Amino acid sequence: MNGVEKILIDEESLSKRVRELAQQITEDYKDKPLLIVGILKGSVPFMADLFRLIQLEDLAIDFMSVSSYNNGTVSSGRLRVIKDLDVDISGKDVLIIEDIVDTGFTLSNLKDMLNLRNPASLKICTILNKPSRRTTEIDVEYIGFDVPDEFVIGYGLDYDEKYRNLPYVGVLKREMYEK
Ligand code: IMP
Ligand code: MG
Repeated sequence: MNGVEKILIDEESLSKRVRELAQQITEDYKDKPLLIVGILKGSVPFMADLFRLIQLEDLAIDFMSVSSYNNGTVSSGRLRVIKDLDVDISGKDVLIIEDIVDTGFTLSNLKDMLNLRNPASLKICTILNKPSRRTTEIDVEYIGFDVPDEFVIGYGLDYDEKYRNLPYVGVLKREMYEK
């Protein structure tokens, strides 16, 4: 692929790690109904791979789409909800599925917002984590891989809406955004 500097996490490593996370989630939520919430659009490949491997009888899925005004124009630090959940989460065990936790801003705001709806529990599962970039403290219960401070693409992650379809996680060539 043209924009890819190098492959960071190949397909095989991704699928092995997703399997491990699914096993852990299966054990942790044994005998409980679980609602997993994918954050659009980046979580789609991870969500699809993960939830087919979670062996719980009472497993439901839903999706949300949010955008943060983290950088630039609006500095209020709030989230804009583009698509809200279809279901009421009060009293439910909820697990958010994300592509990457970077500054932590998006998820920390989302968590605050969803906690107001009184779920029984609210946890986070992300396939990628960039700990070096964190500015907002946040607990992330399930992490696939820590990645270095580079712009990563693939397995759901985009640059300008492209590259989400790559089956691996790669580093974007600097020349793609430093023009
Ligand atoms: P946060 O609010 O800074 O944690 O940002 C989270 C969102 O920023 C993610 O859901 C991604 O959409 C996007 N993001 C952060 N880092 C990257 C990256 O390296 N590649 C692609 N998207 C990223
Ligand atoms: Mg994005």
